[in-house]
Amino acid sequence: MNLGLEGKTFFITGAASGIGASAMEILLSAGANVAACDRDKDGLTAIGSKSGASAFPVYADIANQDDVLAAMAAAREKFGRIHTLLHFAAMLDSHNIDELTPEIWDTVMSVNLRGTYLVVQAAIPHMREQGGGRIVLTASDSARMGSLVSGPAYAASKGGVIALTHTLALYLGPSKITVNAVCPGLTMTGMSQGWSADFIAKIADRTPLGRLAQPEEVARVAIFLGSDAANFVTGEVVEVNGGIHFD
Ligand SMILES: NC(=O)c1ccc[n+]([C@@H]2O[C@H](COP(=O)([O-])OP(=O)(O)OC[C@H]3O[C@@H](n4cnc5c(N)ncnc54)[C@H](O)[C@@H]3O)[C@@H](O)[C@H]2O)c1
Repeated sequence: MNLGLEGKTFFITGAASGIGASAMEILLSAGANVAACDRDKDGLTAIGSKSGASAFPVYADIANQDDVLAAMAAAREKFGRIHTLLHFAAMLDSHNIDELTPEIWDTVMSVNLRGTYLVVQAAIPHMREQGGGRIVLTASDSARMGSLVSGPAYAASKGGVIALTHTLALYLGPSKITVNAVCPGLTMTGMSQGWSADFIAKIADRTPLGRLAQPEEVARVAIFLGSDAANFVTGEVVEVNGGIHFD
């Protein structure tokens, strides 16, 4: 099956690391254009120096509306269209409820939830003008099953992403814009740095497929949801977790 990726333009947030970086590599090798958005300036410089003309690094702190609007407009100007938004950027926060402060809570919500709202809202006018589009958000198993590696602020922010996926799918369907989310379990990326070997072994042991995810395994599902092959899928939150949890 051909996913029809060649010549399509993907706007990827969190492209400098982990799942986003993996999605970018897969898409570039399939002949797609990628606007690679991140707040990691060194990461963006590295993308600019090692990728070809199909990769366009754009800076944005996704919690900042001016940054996000400017990045989306720059990507549209560069490639002419934005077919798909793959939104991976987020921050992990592991403070438990005893340690959490209002400032930490607000920071996590600002990046993970407000940032999601801002990138979606910025993409919509471009997608409407071109007659439709695909939006893929990133939730987390912590919102489905609870987690001790991520704290309540992170889990709540990802629960908000699931709620947004459903509500936006209803609202944007008539504009021919699909909205889905991937829901990863623990995945070996920048976020996994600091997890002990013992912890990783325990999670692997509880997972039917016997290990944690690699970033490309999540990226491939997101790319499918953001491709024409998933034309008639919207409002879905797809678990990519080796079976540690399912509905
Ligand atoms: N790794 C896991 O175990 C796991 C599990 C469940 C869900 N997720 C989700 O997957 C997505 C990708 O995470 P990852 O594991 O690849 O992490 P990662 O840390 O490797 O990559 C995250 C990227 O997002 C960028 N970023 C963070 N805050 C930003 C901001 N305010 N503005 C712009 N860019 C910002 C970072 O610079 C980084 O490049 C996230 O939404 C994360 O919550 C990850």
